Amino acid sequence: MSRSFHVLTFGCQMNVCDSSWISASLRSRGWEETVEEEADVVVLNTCSVRDKPEQKVYSVLGRIGPRLQSIPDGFAVVGGCVAQQVGRAIWKRFPFVRLVFGTDGVHRVPQTMDRLVRGEIGRAALLDFEDAYPERHGGLPDQIPGQAFVNIMQGCDNFCAYCIVPFTRGRQKSRDIDSVLRECSTLVQRGARELTLLGQNVNSFGLDRPSSPSFAELLTAVADIPGLERLRFTTSHPKDIAPEVIEAFGSLPVLCPQLHLPVQSGSNRILKAMGRKYTRERYVDIVRALRGVRPDLALSTDIIVGFPGESEQDFQETMSLLDEVDYAGSFSFMYSDRPGTQAAAMPLKIDRSEKLDRLTRLQRRQDELTASHLAGMVGNETTVLVERPNQKQFGSQIRWQGRDPGGRIVHFDHVIPDLAGRMVAVKVTGSGGHSLSGETQGAPW
Ligand code: 5AD
Ligand code: SF4
Repeated sequence: MSRSFHVLTFGCQMNVCDSSWISASLRSRGWEETVEEEADVVVLNTCSVRDKPEQKVYSVLGRIGPRLQSIPDGFAVVGGCVAQQVGRAIWKRFPFVRLVFGTDGVHRVPQTMDRLVRGEIGRAALLDFEDAYPERHGGLPDQIPGQAFVNIMQGCDNFCAYCIVPFTRGRQKSRDIDSVLRECSTLVQRGARELTLLGQNVNSFGLDRPSSPSFAELLTAVADIPGLERLRFTTSHPKDIAPEVIEAFGSLPVLCPQLHLPVQSGSNRILKAMGRKYTRERYVDIVRALRGVRPDLALSTDIIVGFPGESEQDFQETMSLLDEVDYAGSFSFMYSDRPGTQAAAMPLKIDRSEKLDRLTRLQRRQDELTASHLAGMVGNETTVLVERPNQKQFGSQIRWQGRDPGGRIVHFDHVIPDLAGRMVAVKVTGSGGHSLSGETQGAPW
């Protein structure tokens, strides 16, 4: 029986990676991927790390429900963090949802969808946490041409005071290094030139598995895969970044000069209340060591403004850290209570208007830093891994977009119509608020 599906994804790169595995696996089982308006089954992969995405899931379910209920055998599948949290209760409000799954249930989603379609079961919930990383078989995802993402671990043991992840994704579970390496090699053989290793806290890879190699050892082994040209990883907790990982930025040529190192706050008082287990000074030392081995490292971060009890003085310390580190980019968020977290029970909540004001000031400063960082790249020669054409086309020239080793978006024009997944040398000739533009040098490869 042929069935069509569409996947909608919210949240982090790990969700994007899970979704693309689900799509690839469903296709290999004979499902047809189609647009949302024509799909028999819509899969929603959700995120609850901040409050807005959660509301968005409910509004999407409200939007897609009437159509799914009006077609024979139409239904929705809800997975990810919201599903883990809300669980079977989602069925009450949205009866057309026939499968809910959490992170550890991902590997069983395709076979369960087959059973639902065949009428063997009416409804299912895959919400249990497992003790070890559940390996996924069949269906290697294809994502951006030339790029691939590889999950190396799941869950988190840190319990930062504001964060819901340890509750929705469970305890840290690292993958077996041999499966990771096998997957990486297969992806490179199939044409991936760039790999990104993914996990909530990749720096503590292996710590939950007796005799597992460390993250630094994993990095070295992946970097050795013949044919791999670029390697990235995300996300890192500053407290866990080992000296060997810092050194790797100097010694592994394929490791890109880019690091996302969430700081969350520049105030020691707030860092302590958040349970981050490092100080501002320790963080700045790590940055200094990283830049010592890789001066061109593009650093980005996550920041929360308006954590309970955050004073204007605390906020000013975050502002000054922005300048001290000189981030290439940052993602900043207003603090919001997440159910069950320590911070939700803390007093001295900050007014929304104050949080918004701090966020605006911070983002304005970051925009200036980002723009001047990008302006400093003008005149450089770089390589770009091409991702996709931009909408604009000028005569026979196509405008393309890709990324440089630092992860910066670069636009350029070219007459060749199938550049996606290829590399081009580019001379940077201009910069904007969030991207670079340039001219290609020589033939793509
Ligand atoms: N409120 C606001 N931002 C949050 N984040 C995580 N939890 C919260 C919360 N309760 C942010 C952090 C994290 C990013 C993924 O989301 O900055 O690094
Ligand atoms: Fe959340 Fe902290 Fe774990 Fe990151 S390290 S996922 S912020 S608990």
